[in-house]
Parts: sequence; C-alpha cells; structure tokens
Amino acid sequence: MQVRKAVIPAAGLGTRFLPITKAVPKELLPILDRPMLQYVVEEAAEAGVEEVIVVTARGKESIASYFQPRPDLEARLAEAGSADLLESIRHVSTLADVSFVIQEEPLGLGHAVLTARNAVGHEPFVVILPDDIVHHQPGVISQMLEVSAQHQAGVIAVEQVPWETIHNYGVVDAEERGARTHFIKQLVEKPAREDAPSNLSIVGRYILPPEIFDCLERTPPGARGEIQLTDGIQLLLEQQDVYAYEFLGTRYDGGAPMGLLRASLEFGMAREDTGDAVRALVREIAGQLEQD
Ligand code: UTP
Repeated sequence: MQVRKAVIPAAGLGTRFLPITKAVPKELLPILDRPMLQYVVEEAAEAGVEEVIVVTARGKESIASYFQPRPDLEARLAEAGSADLLESIRHVSTLADVSFVIQEEPLGLGHAVLTARNAVGHEPFVVILPDDIVHHQPGVISQMLEVSAQHQAGVIAVEQVPWETIHNYGVVDAEERGARTHFIKQLVEKPAREDAPSNLSIVGRYILPPEIFDCLERTPPGARGEIQLTDGIQLLLEQQDVYAYEFLGTRYDGGAPMGLLRASLEFGMAREDTGDAVRALVREIAGQLEQD
C-alpha cells in the first residue's frame, strides 16, 4: 500500500492527566523539551508520509498554534544569534503538511478517525496515537509499511504484555505468519485472563484501507458509549485481511504521568546533548535513595 496520509487523533479529554489537561492538551505535554505530538509527526514524516491530519477539539487551539510560524520569535532568536533554537522552532513546520479537523464531541477513537474521512479521501492511511511513544530507528510506521507492502493488507501494531495485565488491553486472536507477523482472526477487547486468545495487545499504530470509514459508520457505540476503532476494524475483518505486527522498539505510555516521566528520562539519556547530564541526575537520585 502506498501511504501518503496520517491521521493523529488528539481530541480526547486526557482525564488521566487532569488537572493539567484542563488547560493544556495532553498531546502537547513534553518528553524532555518537545511535545509528544512532535515525536509522532516526525515518525510519520520519516516513513514518507506527506500529509498529517490532526483531529482536535474546541479548546485545544494551542495544538494548531504549535505548528504555525512565529515570525516575531524567529526575528528575536536570529538577532540573538541563537541558531539552534531558531532551527528547533522552524523544524516542526518543515516535517509535513499539517492540517486540522475538529471532533465536536469526544465520542471515541473510532469516531475521531471517522471525522478525518473527507480529509483522507479514498486511499490507505496511517493512524498514530500521540500518547503511544516508541523509541526506535526505523520508526514503527516505517516498519509497518514494509509488512503492509509485503501482504498488501492493513496492519496493526501489537506488543506482548504480561498475561496478568491482559484484561486492560485490546488483544488480537491471530495466527503467526512469519517473523513478528500474525494474521488476525478477530480482536477481543479487555478479555479476562482465561479467555484471552493471546498476550498481544494493540498499540496505537494502524495502517488502514479507506474501507474502514464505511465500517466505522456502521459501528455502534461500545464501551463507555464511545465508537471504538477496534470495533470498526472487527467489521473490516469480514471483508479484508489485516495483520498484526510486533514492532521493534520500546513503547512508553505517554497518556499517564509515570509513563511520560519514564520516557523523558530514557529519551534524555539516549540523546547526545542531554545524555551525560540526565545519567548524572539519575545516579544522584539513586544515590540519595540508597542513603534513605
Ligand atoms: P485515550 O484513550 O488515551 O483517551 O485516547 P483520552 O481522552 O485522550 O485520555 P484519558 O483516557 O481520558 O486519560 C487515545 C488518543 O485518541 C484521542 C486522544 O486525544 C488520544 O490522543 N481521542 C480519544 C480522540 O481524538 N477522540 C476521542 O473521542 C477519544
């Protein structure tokens, strides 16, 4: 599948991050010094995606502001000779052509994807959840596009999770078909340990054909009265093959404070400009804990 467009749903309420999400969109919370949203736009651009459609909500206008140029700030930074900072604020607008659609009510992830229907049109596309952050080169979307091309089918990212936590996740019932790749028979939402068909849980990366939109139109509200993307994909499975792919890389749950803290520390250690300082900080804190 040739994929040119990515949909990034960013219209949720972000309740796990209250009270900050009263005023600041979760998707703009930083890992170190960049918003989570930027990492996923970079991942899409790296995979060759040219157009990014961000689904936002009223009250989350700062998401669009983040992608707009700031000539006043640029002029100041240029005057001050801050070339690195200047490059850092320009970089985001060079990554891809970013547009926005509004989801009027947070009626679920499936509904958010459906909101982008006109912007996507009749072509395959990628969905990336900006609070599932994965550290790896090549990025998860690049990895998945290879699998999609090989099987000429949609692909969902999955990862193995401990069996005792399986009831928290959407899980695939699938047959192994090659390295890290599984043919999906069905999707099971939050199964009990004894009913779980596998411990492969769905992660927020999808390559989908445009037929998903008709399936989402037909998807009734499920858990919490929301239209679930997994329910839409379950309908899609009646007419098309979809594969699950165990990506390479570490996933961080940026949708919750502990996950974001861990991501900041690990990304900070991995980055050349901050690695030494963050390692020293972590050692210092660990030393203090040993004295307690
Ligand atoms: P989550 O399931 O993490 O929901 O959504 P949430 O509302 O953001 O956060 P919690 O669970 O209340 O803490 C995953 C992604 O899908 C988007 C969110 O913005 C997030 O990026 N989403 C979710 C929508 O765009 N619309 C929705 O109706 C629901």
